[in-house]
Amino acid sequence: MCPEKIMPDVTPSTIASVPTPRRGFFITLEGGEGAGKSTQSHRLAQRLRTFGLHVQETREPGGSPRAEALRKVLLSGQVASLGPAAEALLFSAARIDHLDQTIRPALAGGVTVICDRFADSTRAYQGTLGNVDTRLIRAMERVAVGTTTPDLTLILDLPAETGLARAARRRTGAIDRFEAEDLSFHRALRNSFLDIAAAEPRRCRVIDGDQPQDDVAEAIWHAVEDRLLAVEHRYALPPAHTA
Ligand code: TYD
Repeated sequence: MCPEKIMPDVTPSTIASVPTPRRGFFITLEGGEGAGKSTQSHRLAQRLRTFGLHVQETREPGGSPRAEALRKVLLSGQVASLGPAAEALLFSAARIDHLDQTIRPALAGGVTVICDRFADSTRAYQGTLGNVDTRLIRAMERVAVGTTTPDLTLILDLPAETGLARAARRRTGAIDRFEAEDLSFHRALRNSFLDIAAAEPRRCRVIDGDQPQDDVAEAIWHAVEDRLLAVEHRYALPPAHTA
């Protein structure tokens, strides 16, 4: 039997016309406590949707059912007594599931993913602040993240005192594991994120988080616009500069 009879509809020209979704754009937001990441993630997602983009908002730890279960354990402080290396392993385990179940399928389907915290949080909290060996942190990152690195990381920066005061004002339940650390911890955390940004200026943009919400949103939009324009040829994007 000739091949045309077996698969009558498939010819080189029809294969060529099947639309392959371009990989979505992967954006992460990082920063200390009370930096306003959740609010800004949401605002950015809404703004991108007005261009007709499909956007998935997600967060870490969490973002998939198994990772959300690990989140409860991690933020309750039950793992803290095992030490920062064990915490880093659990954050990474949650990340593996989150990437497999949520992030990679979305990106592969052309969906833009906005993630509230990602691997830089492990570098800063467990690596710098927890003194977990950088080589171990990097090895875990290679295993969990692999090549699914963010296209853009927005680091929301503000003084530790301001962030902690904001976090305390918006808190509804018990204080969580990391909020409970002292001011010097949060100052060092801020510096750690700034160091990450300085080391990877192509991927990271520092955003001044100590200004009115609308101004922060505008600064984020400019950073996204810049980066989208830089990589636009890889994505099915509208002209972002017409926002
Ligand atoms: P969350 O309530 O989401 O806080 P925030 O609004 O500050 O993002 O709690 C997440 C906490 O987990 C936060 O204190 C940072 C910490 N964390 C790590 O220590 N390592 C990690 O890898 C991640 C993703 C988060």
